[in-house]
Amino acid sequence: MSLTRSRVTVVPTGAALGADIEGFDPADFADEEFTTVRGALLDHLVIRIRGTDIDDVAFERFGARFGTLKPSPDFTRSRPVYLRDAPAVTIISNVTEDGKPIGEHGDGELNWHTDLAFTDEPSALTMLLAREVPPTGGNTSFANMYAAVDALRPETREILTHPGGRKAGLTCKHQASHNAQGGARPGYRDIDTDDVREMPGPIHPLLRTHPETGRKALFLGRRFGGYIPGLRLERSEALLDELWSVAALPENCWTQEWRVGDLIIWDNRCTMHRRDAFTGLGRRRMHRLTTLGERPI
Ligand code: OGA
Ligand code: MN
Repeated sequence: MSLTRSRVTVVPTGAALGADIEGFDPADFADEEFTTVRGALLDHLVIRIRGTDIDDVAFERFGARFGTLKPSPDFTRSRPVYLRDAPAVTIISNVTEDGKPIGEHGDGELNWHTDLAFTDEPSALTMLLAREVPPTGGNTSFANMYAAVDALRPETREILTHPGGRKAGLTCKHQASHNAQGGARPGYRDIDTDDVREMPGPIHPLLRTHPETGRKALFLGRRFGGYIPGLRLERSEALLDELWSVAALPENCWTQEWRVGDLIIWDNRCTMHRRDAFTGLGRRRMHRLTTLGERPI
């Protein structure tokens, strides 16, 4: 425990979201320093701590301060890998050993999404600690979903909030059976429909209220497989396309260019993220933690 006065500084990126936390050691910090970090995450939606030098045990201990750690369910992952010393840490990587991937997601593009939106309790926070990064490529972008609400046409915001004058807002079904590449997930192999109205998945509000800030955020999950229950298919597709057209305007985004030792924490309850492909550009290995979230309301 540090005995000196806190030197933690929050330096906003200047974009619509994101801030650097400076003068903070995630392996050794005082409670009031952690309070500053937690507050910065709520204010800036994504925070970055550069130049960390912590092992996986310290990473897991730090992550657990933010909530209950919960890795993604095995059925959502191509090859579940767990670290012996830090069992909540999983790996995002393109590296293979003995012909087998050591982690998830390879080297391709990941389209805009929020983590585990297709489950009943989507992840609250996700943390990535960069262990290896290619010289270029594999950048990760974030979009501010509070700002997305403001970017909607007022009529559209009204339709989401009080469809046809009703009190309950519109929802979206986030299909669970297929991954973003369209492949059936384990446990769902017998489902062979490509009609989004038929696909199984949880239904969540399109405008969700952040449980800590009380602010409204647009909650889309991902474009693939989305359906707005109660609407004709064509109407659902058109409304989703309209929402997606303003969900990640460049002025509401910020892009992280990774360096080894960067630790990024984002709040899935008010952001989306995507990743550039980095095929042929080198090894990339991220150690990852997620915290359990609540059912969106
Ligand atoms: C994730 C994710 C992006 C990246 O871990 O949920 O989307 O940059 N990762 O690897
Ligand atoms: Mn993700």
